[in-house]
Amino acid sequence: MQVAIVGLGNLGTAVGNLIAVNGHQVVGWEYNAAVADEINQQHLNSRYLPGVELHPGLTATTNLADALTVRDIVFIALPSVFIERTLKPVQGSLHAETIVVNLAKGIDGATGLTSFQTVSDLFPLNPIVMLSGPSIANEFARGLPTVVMIAGRDKTDLMRVAQALDNDHFRVRFSDDAVGVELGGVLKNIYAIGLGLFDGQHITSVNFRAVYLTVAMEEITKIGVALGARLETFLYLSGIGDLLATSLSEHSHNRRMGELLAQGLPLAEVERQMGVTPEGFNTLRSMLYIAEKMHVPMPLAKGLWDVIHGRYSAAKFIQLFIRDFVE
Ligand SMILES: NC(=O)c1ccc[n+]([C@@H]2O[C@H](COP(=O)([O-])OP(=O)(O)OC[C@H]3O[C@@H](n4cnc5c(N)ncnc54)[C@H](O)[C@@H]3O)[C@@H](O)[C@H]2O)c1
Repeated sequence: MQVAIVGLGNLGTAVGNLIAVNGHQVVGWEYNAAVADEINQQHLNSRYLPGVELHPGLTATTNLADALTVRDIVFIALPSVFIERTLKPVQGSLHAETIVVNLAKGIDGATGLTSFQTVSDLFPLNPIVMLSGPSIANEFARGLPTVVMIAGRDKTDLMRVAQALDNDHFRVRFSDDAVGVELGGVLKNIYAIGLGLFDGQHITSVNFRAVYLTVAMEEITKIGVALGARLETFLYLSGIGDLLATSLSEHSHNRRMGELLAQGLPLAEVERQMGVTPEGFNTLRSMLYIAEKMHVPMPLAKGLWDVIHGRYSAAKFIQLFIRDFVE
């Protein structure tokens, strides 16, 4: 199979390496030329996936149009904010039969479109598949067991994608609810910020985490169903599974953002220290707007927003959460 990965960051490198290990030919486009050079010359990506030796079947290029000429599958592994501006100029480069798999989990702050919708609009003639679920790149890149969801309209496309990804430690399961699979991945980032807030205050009791994650799941489900997802999709890997993985992972940018906010740092300083604004932040802003329009209350998400903007402290938020937010 001929496969391309757009973005050899943390996730893109792990997915590209997985597919190369599975015996397929993989070319990755990378924005950063030094990262591409290191992958080609040393089979390492010390910036985005340190400590993992890469399969020589994964090569890198900085020419995006070249990478997109592969016949079989193109995986989009960019943070959502870069998707449109990176792919719009090369929209015409794809073969019509090439399957496009979106791995990004975010909402475009300007358009309100999810990454899957943005990718679908960019490539209206191609089959589009959504991949989401508990898939922390630093873990499955080291062979740790991982199971994710892929969703799309046509089972034949899903079978092709499964053939590229499946092996002894990485498996995919199918869904026909692309909206639900995507929204589970998009929305959980909001609540991972919240768990980081509590961790930063050293509130790590199991009782409390169970309450928080249950209420988060309830809120995800309410807004998700209002946006067209099926309830049962949130009860499986791309819903509750991904919420647990991202909230509890030490590798989550979103959780880290919450931890820094809990230390009382202002938003600008958190962004400076992290060097990147985690997806959950823009998702939170967009979702509160959408929730207002759809008359769906999201008190937990609104509380997080108020803390991030210094309207009250993380400690006050926790007090309010226990007293008022739990219905
Ligand atoms: N890392 C994970 O474990 C993981 C798991 C599941 C989903 N995701 C999702 O995958 C997506 C990518 O996340 P990541 O963790 O791999 O990100 P990352 O920060 O590791 O990678 C960023 C990528 O964006 C590229 N980039 C930087 N500036 C750019 C620009 N101006 N224009 C175009 N490209 C630019 C970088 O070169 C790199 O390839 C996100 O939507 C994330 O939510 C990540």
